[in-house]
Amino acid sequence: MTTIQVIRRNGSLAQIEAAQALSLMENLRRSGIDDIIALCGGNRSCATCHVYIDDQSGLGEMTKDEADMLSCLIHQRDQSRLSCQVLIHAVDYLRVEIAPEE
Ligand code: FES
Repeated sequence: MTTIQVIRRNGSLAQIEAAQALSLMENLRRSGIDDIIALCGGNRSCATCHVYIDDQSGLGEMTKDEADMLSCLIHQRDQSRLSCQVLIHAVDYLRVEIAPEE
């Protein structure tokens, strides 16, 4: 399991215990974090799963397709990721902020 601390859009904090076999997006959705819409179901084509992750060590490299999608967003930062593309199997703890709605 991975412990994830979530900063929601309204500023509130949540903590979830996440299954390492699932993506970050799937874990957030399963835990009732409905700030994450995930309209495309994880196919890297909607960006409604946009999050910020300060410490991305252990999460693997971002693909060019993910970087291209993020580059189209108004609220993109250096810490941006599509949570549907983030695998958490190699980390025990993660701090995630839900990005503003586009
Ligand atoms: S769920 Fe659509 S890009 Fe992540």
